[in-house]
Amino acid sequence: MVAHTVLLDFTVSSSVIADMEKRSGLKSAIANVLAEHFTGLKPLTESNIDGSLLILYTGPRGSLITVRGYTEGLITLNIEYYKQDDQEALLTFELAKELETALQTAATATRSHTLTPIKRGGPFERYYPTADERLLEYDIDKLVFEARSPYQKVQIVHSKSLGNLLVLDELQNMSEADLIYTETLMQRGKENYAGKEIVILGGGDGGLLWELLKEKPKFVTMLEIDDIVMKACSQHMRSICGDCLDKRKGDNYEIIVGDCVKALAHMIEEGRQFDYVFGDLTDIPISTTPHGDAWDFIRLILNSSMKVLKSTGKYMTHGNGASCPESLKMYEEVLSQLCVPVTFTKDRAFVPSFFEDWIFYQVSLK
Ligand SMILES: C[S@@+](CC[C@H](N)C(=O)[O-])C[C@H]1O[C@@H](n2cnc3c(N)ncnc32)[C@H](O)[C@@H]1O
Repeated sequence: MVAHTVLLDFTVSSSVIADMEKRSGLKSAIANVLAEHFTGLKPLTESNIDGSLLILYTGPRGSLITVRGYTEGLITLNIEYYKQDDQEALLTFELAKELETALQTAATATRSHTLTPIKRGGPFERYYPTADERLLEYDIDKLVFEARSPYQKVQIVHSKSLGNLLVLDELQNMSEADLIYTETLMQRGKENYAGKEIVILGGGDGGLLWELLKEKPKFVTMLEIDDIVMKACSQHMRSICGDCLDKRKGDNYEIIVGDCVKALAHMIEEGRQFDYVFGDLTDIPISTTPHGDAWDFIRLILNSSMKVLKSTGKYMTHGNGASCPESLKMYEEVLSQLCVPVTFTKDRAFVPSFFEDWIFYQVSLK
């Protein structure tokens, strides 16, 4: 049960909206085409907003059709209706394309476009943003798990092409098709983890811990705040985390449940030193104490991490989408202003569940 919205748009000469005679011709052309496609079409209201045109119609099954004509010559048509699970779509994409062709001809439009129906409501979301805030539609067909933890909304949804996908606070985090994410983050094949002491900040999906354990490290300490994320992934994302989240302690690893900032502060106090620290936190990490904006928090995590690195150690993390050069530049500026001088290298990989290239950083002390 979801609301469908079909979006169409056309471009006509701006004079068609500005000139009242031409506008009236356009209005009847649109009304005639709509009446042919929607039985029982009724005009609801019409208005002029700053010279632009607005007409509302009601159609079959309580549908609402909004026609907007902007003074610049752009015409948008939004067709919204509610669809029960067992009901046929009122306007399939194919029918919408037919409507588009008829409207384009009737309005003598110079260009036109139709979007596939947007589906809103229902038990799961299908739309997630790219790093630069473009809208992606996923082939989600099932809500597998949902809970609200003290820190975030935790969901696992099933995608036909990605398998199960962990979604935190409505943002895609890790899918069963994302081994490349973990392998690029850890620079598999380029770094030697055998016998090394490692800290993971966050990493609640367990993917990184599971892949690191395969490389025979001396010990991995994972500092993850959200027990619910780990329980959900241990049950529903087993192809990426194996059984490493089933218990809090193994032969060569321990998962400490709590804020990594506090745990790092203890490690600094105790003078602990590690070969690798992984920043595998959510893009906007959870802050349990007030720390100004997200950048202040990222700076705090980086500075604290540098203090627990051996002089030969490395801080490995995910940056942002390659589509966000400004944000990557800002991250690199933060790196150049840490409490200790550092150098860094970068790598990139196409991450299936992000539908885009992601940038990963490897930071070393100078
Ligand atoms: C699921 S992992 C992986 C990140 C992911 N691949 C992405 O798309 O950004 C991120 C984890 O960081 C954890 N996290 C966020 N803030 C934290 C904090 N202050 N301390 C410990 N863990 C934290 C979240 O609970 C989450 O499980």
